[in-house]
Amino acid sequence: MFDLYELIYVAAIVFFVIGLHRMGHPKTALSGIIWAGWAMAAAIIVSFTIPGISNVPLILTGIAIGGAIGWIAATRVAMVSMPQMVAIYNGMGGGAAAAIAAIELLGGSASVYLQLALGGAIIGSVSLTGSTVAFLKLQGWMKQTPVTFPLQQPFNILILAASAYFGLAYLFPQIPSGLAFSPIYPFFILSLVFGILMTLPIGGADMPVVISMLNALTGLAVAFDGFSTSNFAMVVAGMLVGAAGTILTVAMARAMNRSIFSVLFGAFGKTDEHDLNEARIARAIEAEDVGIMMAYAGSIIIAPGFGMAAAQAQFRVKELLDILQSRNLQVRFAIHPVAGRMPGHMNVLLAEAGIPYELMVDMDEINRELPNTDVVLVVGANDVVNPAARRTDSPLHGMPILDVDKARNVIVIKRGAGKGFAGIDNDLFYSQNTRMLYGDASEVIAALIQSLKKL
Ligand code: TAP
Repeated sequence: MFDLYELIYVAAIVFFVIGLHRMGHPKTALSGIIWAGWAMAAAIIVSFTIPGISNVPLILTGIAIGGAIGWIAATRVAMVSMPQMVAIYNGMGGGAAAAIAAIELLGGSASVYLQLALGGAIIGSVSLTGSTVAFLKLQGWMKQTPVTFPLQQPFNILILAASAYFGLAYLFPQIPSGLAFSPIYPFFILSLVFGILMTLPIGGADMPVVISMLNALTGLAVAFDGFSTSNFAMVVAGMLVGAAGTILTVAMARAMNRSIFSVLFGAFGKTDEHDLNEARIARAIEAEDVGIMMAYAGSIIIAPGFGMAAAQAQFRVKELLDILQSRNLQVRFAIHPVAGRMPGHMNVLLAEAGIPYELMVDMDEINRELPNTDVVLVVGANDVVNPAARRTDSPLHGMPILDVDKARNVIVIKRGAGKGFAGIDNDLFYSQNTRMLYGDASEVIAALIQSLKKL
């Protein structure tokens, strides 16, 4: 016979899977989060009926404090700060997994899976400190540029190996540790230090990929803990997070044309490419002229990027869409998979402003239509529209891009000569068919709307 809590765990797992599936599309993502949220709430509540549970008031106090902080932080966080919030929440998950493993290890649990608790402890600890460094870098409380030193990777591997050695020495007394105290202490300290060392050489803008990877690691740590505590809901939920995090990490790296290896060890952003375009001149245009160009265009495509997020210009973009549609102009949005700083960043922002999903077209599909488009309006996008990606000598070589340079006219909105995440100049800005509309995206689009209203 199954216990009640086990049956509810099975139901929760089914809900988790349905929730994850629904998160796969922007239209159903919110309901997916709600399904998974209810499943998690049910799994937590029913855990109180597990035979032998103790310290209930302490657990309830922890839930109340953590729940209140999480609720307040999540309702207040600005959309552009979402990656660092995910980072710190993930770090907390890793820390919790490491703490569960520590209790199993220190409590002398008779579990046959105690070695897996060791895995949960090491991975959870790395995830805790790694995610904390990611949070500090993204929040701007720590230098975003990669921190490197000679022989860094061999040194890091040595720390990890030493941590694993002390962990094994704790579990198997026949392995000598050479210490006068329990090897469990250096085991945890070195695991925590490794998380910091692993994240230091990674630049701030690569962090979303790293956070996704750390998220997968947290899932793995939770699954290991599930084995050592014989809690199958933890095993399945941990594996779901591990698998989803891994798929997302690979998808993001692929869309940036980077290998996971180069994200982790490449110290991207440390050096600037030689400026090929120094001598070339980008030509500016005024909002009134862009207004006239758009008013008489047959087809318009808007390509948003990180600058739209930074300027919170999505609401102005919606106003612009309304006015263009009121003139019977065909307008669509070109969505690059890694535009912005997190997966689905552009879809979320545009949807927040009330722009219908039907108008958001994925890269491959819109690339077929760009050569027949009259006007492309690039709103704060840079790397994802850089034709340099087609040149073999460019650091961006091979990254899939939106082929906006193939449109008849390209208008690029950005504030000045700022570079994109990759830190390289953009061939598009110097192209014959490109004009630069300089200024903060929100302000410039407001001016564009005014000019269209006058026509
Ligand atoms: P970026 O290449 O980062 O370029 C953004 C541009 O926006 C900058 O050139 C900047 O130029 C402009 N900008 C900034 N603030 C602005 C404002 N207030 N108003 C107008 N323009 C503003 O953006 P992208 O094209 O979206 O590319 C994203 C990059 O991030 C890619 O390289 C991608 O690989 C990387 N990345 C993405 C992800 C995910 S999952 N999305 C994760 C990690 C890394 P000015 O300073 O001149 O204004």
